[in-house]
Amino acid sequence: MIINTDRYPVNDLSSTAAQLWIAEVRGQFERDGSCLLPDFVNPVTLEQMAQEVRGITHLAYPGPTEVSPYFFNYQLGKDECLPEAHPLKHRGRRNLAQVAADLIPAEFLLNQLYRSRLMLDFLGAVSGQPIYRNQDPYQSLNVSVMAEGGCQLWHFDSGDMVTTLLLQAPAAGGIFEYAPAIRSDEDENFDAVKAVLEGNRERVLQNRLQAGTLSLFRGHYSLHRVTPVEGKRQRLQAILGYSTRPNLCGNKESSILHYGPRVAEIEASAPRYPG
Ligand SMILES: [Fe+2]
Repeated sequence: MIINTDRYPVNDLSSTAAQLWIAEVRGQFERDGSCLLPDFVNPVTLEQMAQEVRGITHLAYPGPTEVSPYFFNYQLGKDECLPEAHPLKHRGRRNLAQVAADLIPAEFLLNQLYRSRLMLDFLGAVSGQPIYRNQDPYQSLNVSVMAEGGCQLWHFDSGDMVTTLLLQAPAAGGIFEYAPAIRSDEDENFDAVKAVLEGNRERVLQNRLQAGTLSLFRGHYSLHRVTPVEGKRQRLQAILGYSTRPNLCGNKESSILHYGPRVAEIEASAPRYPG
């Protein structure tokens, strides 16, 4: 069993203990915009899982190094004339590389976890609606690799329940920081976002993740970043693409940007994207 079912009863969700646990996870997720599940993967299994992933980190592609916090909201503020200090004009540093889904072998423990029915059932129970795997051939499951100095700028995500698993923690740094629910569908709250971008810490919380921790995070509404990694041990984090939308798929342009020219070559000869 990959998942630590002694601690988390994902294999028996109808039991009273599981129902109580799910209610707690859901409550925490809705209240804090984040829920951490330490030792979600059995410690022995985790070591093997991390070992497998360490064997493919050389396949990671760096992607863009300077991006907007609103990277995923391509249309936001597009035609507006904005002052230079506006959050939409802000550019931050992204220093990480990602291993694309098609480079993670099906037999890897990480891939087995991602594809397991238990994960869909568990996340479905937490969100109260059916959950599906992202259908994108490259974006569905990723490993983010941060070497010394690696970091991720303040940004918002596209998905509302971002599911990540830390496989290997760095010696120091690489801390996940976030400003919970700083924006909503009704209000971008640019003044508060600007304050965080300029260094104000009032709304900022930290999650010091341990390897093996599964994290559920409302990244669409909470501004977040990863502080620079210190030391030689890489920070390895899996991003497990799940969604309430059954056929969610990214696009070729975004995948070429994030996973490199090899995607363009594949799509030119044996396309994986429809059309
Ligand atoms: Fe993110």
